[in-house]
Amino acid sequence: MSLVLDPAAQDLLFREARTANTFTDEPVTDEQVQAIYDLVKFGPTAFNQSPLRVVLVRSAEGRERLVQHMAEGNRPKTATAPLVAILAADNEFHEELPALLPHFPQAKDMFFAERPVRESAAGLNAALQAAYFIIGVRAAGLAAGPMTGYDAAGIQKEFLDDDHTPLMVVNIGKPGEDAWFPRSPRLSYDEVIKTV
Ligand SMILES: Cc1cc2nc3c(=O)[nH]c(=O)nc-3n(C[C@H](O)[C@H](O)[C@H](O)COP(=O)(O)O)c2cc1C
Repeated sequence: MSLVLDPAAQDLLFREARTANTFTDEPVTDEQVQAIYDLVKFGPTAFNQSPLRVVLVRSAEGRERLVQHMAEGNRPKTATAPLVAILAADNEFHEELPALLPHFPQAKDMFFAERPVRESAAGLNAALQAAYFIIGVRAAGLAAGPMTGYDAAGIQKEFLDDDHTPLMVVNIGKPGEDAWFPRSPRLSYDEVIKTV
């Protein structure tokens, strides 16, 4: 009653959406990824800093290099998902800031001249964007399998550079057989929300 979003969309994005552990071999196209990005890019970030960067691992050779850096239990699904994306935070996002925040271009030097400040801001805001990305994958009728079980330094060296910190690797595709672990409980409203 309180939600204005269509109940079917609520189910698609949250109630019935699950973290997939197996996938069919139906491909995920660049057009789908573009549609997902063009939707979720509107999710908010501080100062509109938009620090998320994404590497789509499409080649067999790239996939092989990535799988080596995944934790043992994550390897089979990373090897077989139709598409795998490396989500990273750009710690030099301030270079784009004047273009992204045209009404306040001074923010770049006023707030983000120091690298540790940028790393902290990029970590938080790229994580927000990663969450939007996962929901966007679901909005495309696909399932996402986010993972942080990996050798971060190895992935950074292999696919990124010193200015880009890996946040998570996301398997993307249509769920396959036995795709789900049992649904785990969530904390209740009263356990999480206090009013003062
Ligand atoms: C940031 C993040 C990291 C995760 N890392 C892993 C991982 O390394 N391996 C794995 O099997 N699942 C991983 N998961 C999956 C979670 O355990 C799963 O999303 C959660 O239990 C909810 O499952 P459900 O969507 O099926 O309810 C990760 C999820 C997130 C959001």
